Amino acid sequence: MSLKMVRSGLWAPLVVALALSTLASAAAAQAAAGDAVRGAKVAYTCYGCHGIPDYRNTYPTYHVPKIFGQRADYIIAALGEYKAGTRQHGRNGTMNAQAASLSDKDIADVAAFFAGATPLKGDGATGTPPAIVATCAACHGPDGVAIAGTGAPNLAGQHADYLVNSLHGYQKGTRQNAIMQGFAGQLKEEDVQAAAKWFAAQSPGLWAQKASGAKY
Ligand code: HEC
Ligand code: HEC
Repeated sequence: MSLKMVRSGLWAPLVVALALSTLASAAAAQAAAGDAVRGAKVAYTCYGCHGIPDYRNTYPTYHVPKIFGQRADYIIAALGEYKAGTRQHGRNGTMNAQAASLSDKDIADVAAFFAGATPLKGDGATGTPPAIVATCAACHGPDGVAIAGTGAPNLAGQHADYLVNSLHGYQKGTRQNAIMQGFAGQLKEEDVQAAAKWFAAQSPGLWAQKASGAKY
């Protein structure tokens, strides 16, 4: 834990994170059991949005997130939250409906498929990060490749406008997570924009893929 975090009172969420890491490893163990080959079939309906270049959510408008290369434990957690309704996707609940149609096995398998055989590997940051990134690096890595066991998602290569929307969601409380609401709540708008821009520009990172296998 950096001095900066202690001074700014950011240590409390970190303690929560450490407590939660046990849960995250349990989820990771479950993910390891996921059948990626079967998951590829479950993923068929997902290409309709996650496999269309530049596809956007409307009201508010932001890019559909990239989920190829995402951590399996995070995908399992996210789909579980959509399914339970604790994470609401807009007024129409598109992702809530998608997740509701999946069994726990479907979720574990589809997570293994999207995560891929080899997890993204951090290679350190390219360039000089904006100061705020020091606060995020303990979990998301300086280059947006998440530290295993923290439950944090990979942010590298993600669409910047999606990251901004997620951070605004935590700030407004429309997206709930004790850890991230603590961190996002302390961010000024310029920090939100700077962090999103930084992580979006990092490589290697997340990607989108068409049903044909073409990556972009
Ligand atoms: C109709 C379009 C659409 C379809 C089909 C769709 N998604 Fe999504 N998905 C979205 C949008 C838009 C978001 C961002 C929602 C938000 O901001 O919470 C999202 C978010 C997600 C997230 C969270 C990503 C993150 O970084 O937090 C996961 C995981 C996900 N989708 C998995 C799937 C899976 C698995 C399928 C197929 C079973 C699927 N999606 C089908 C549009 C779609
Ligand atoms: C103590 C660990 C920790 C720290 C530090 C942290 N995060 Fe997170 N972050 C998480 C976890 C865990 C999640 C998943 C929360 C959820 O399920 O909603 C997350 C989720 C996110 C998301 C949502 C991504 C998506 O795909 O929707 C964004 C954006 C994000 N963090 C940005 C940041 C930024 C910017 C900072 C620094 C100011 C930061 N985080 C600091 C643990 C952390």
